[in-house]
Amino acid sequence: MKNIIITGGAGFIGSHVVRLFVNKYPEYHIINVDKLTYAGNLANLKDIENKPNYTFVKADICDFETIMGIFKKYNVDGVIHLAAESHVDRSIKDPFTFAQTNVMGTLSMLQAAKLYWEELPEKWEGKRFYHISTDEVYGALELTDPEGIEPPFTTKASSGKHHLAYGSKFFTEDLKYQPHSPYSAAKASSDHFVRAFHDTYGMPTIVTNCSNNYGPYQFPEKLIPLFINNIRHRKPLPVYGKGENVRDWLYVEDHARAIDLIFHKGTIAETYNIGGFNEWKNIDIIKVVINTVDRLLGRKEGEDMELITFVTDRAGHDMRYAIDSTKLQRELGWEPSLQFEEGIEKTVKWYLENQAWMDNVTSGDYQKYYEEMYKNR
Ligand code: NAD
Ligand code: TYD
Repeated sequence: MKNIIITGGAGFIGSHVVRLFVNKYPEYHIINVDKLTYAGNLANLKDIENKPNYTFVKADICDFETIMGIFKKYNVDGVIHLAAESHVDRSIKDPFTFAQTNVMGTLSMLQAAKLYWEELPEKWEGKRFYHISTDEVYGALELTDPEGIEPPFTTKASSGKHHLAYGSKFFTEDLKYQPHSPYSAAKASSDHFVRAFHDTYGMPTIVTNCSNNYGPYQFPEKLIPLFINNIRHRKPLPVYGKGENVRDWLYVEDHARAIDLIFHKGTIAETYNIGGFNEWKNIDIIKVVINTVDRLLGRKEGEDMELITFVTDRAGHDMRYAIDSTKLQRELGWEPSLQFEEGIEKTVKWYLENQAWMDNVTSGDYQKYYEEMYKNR
């Protein structure tokens, strides 16, 4: 029996990881530790909440005593750490909360794991602390034009497939950290703490840095769900700057699959980049989303293009993120399973078919779910 804490399991990516582990590994006990901030929504896990190998614990990762108690109570063998403040725009307005949760919260998880595991007869044997991070710690890449050719360029992914790239450089695992936003600075700091616990105490840690995720259950402050919902209600679509910024998009279930693989097969103390080889300019992805929503709602394709509204750019807006996940492909055989066209179609369909989920989030009703479902447990 393995007892595994997944932190942030009520959030977007965490809920997909919890679902995957609870369903795939009935022999594991999954303990979802989440504070239920505005971003935590237990309705994301309705389908597995009564499974015998799943337990939800409402707790703040910064509360060291409580976290220590959870390690002891559940005899924890492994941690998959996703809990974080995750939205760049919020970090620009309120950097303290980001330092508190992302840095101090991670430190509190590490210290509890260390104190608990060190006292066991087997010590680190069979233990693992897996920290989920972002590609944003590497800073921003430029839209470069090495040979006088206008980007995008066509390059080859490790799998040999061609893809578009908006520059000749990519994020590789050996790059120096150069975070720009308070969000990425806090995540970078937490990554350093995780590595320091390996180097100083010998804790079996792993770090992965992933590109932008999209898919079901994402909080509608992030680009794709926000825009799907706004198009549905015919509200303006606020495009920052000129919409020229480039992101590398990965379907969330492919990230969850990578996390499963790396948790079980990854090498201790290593870093793996996870990305989709799937770069898009914001304005282009927005057009795809508009066309898809219009078509699925039975509107004339493209009729909602008029909702596009260019607004003041985000402060310090990183120009381009592009992950090179060759190492993960080469060493563990992972690659994205979905083409972007399939992923975005599935995603838009999901939000349109689950309007009750979206309406619950936008009305704030989702925050009552914990009291309603868990008060008598
Ligand atoms: P999210 O904002 O949707 O969810 C975060 C979850 O953490 C929520 O359930 C929230 O309640 C919980 N949480 C926040 N503060 C907490 C605290 N102090 N104690 C306990 N729980 C707390 O985030 P997400 O998009 O699912 O991202 C999850 C992780 O993956 C983060 O660490 C993020 O940095 C990383 N990541 C995200 C992306 C992306 O595109 N979303 C890409 C790469 C990496
Ligand atoms: P976001 O989903 O916030 O992810 P991140 O900042 O972590 O990449 O934003 C994705 C891109 O979309 C980013 O370049 C900012 C841009 N964006 C907009 O243009 N308008 C919006 O309303 C939002 C939320 C994002």
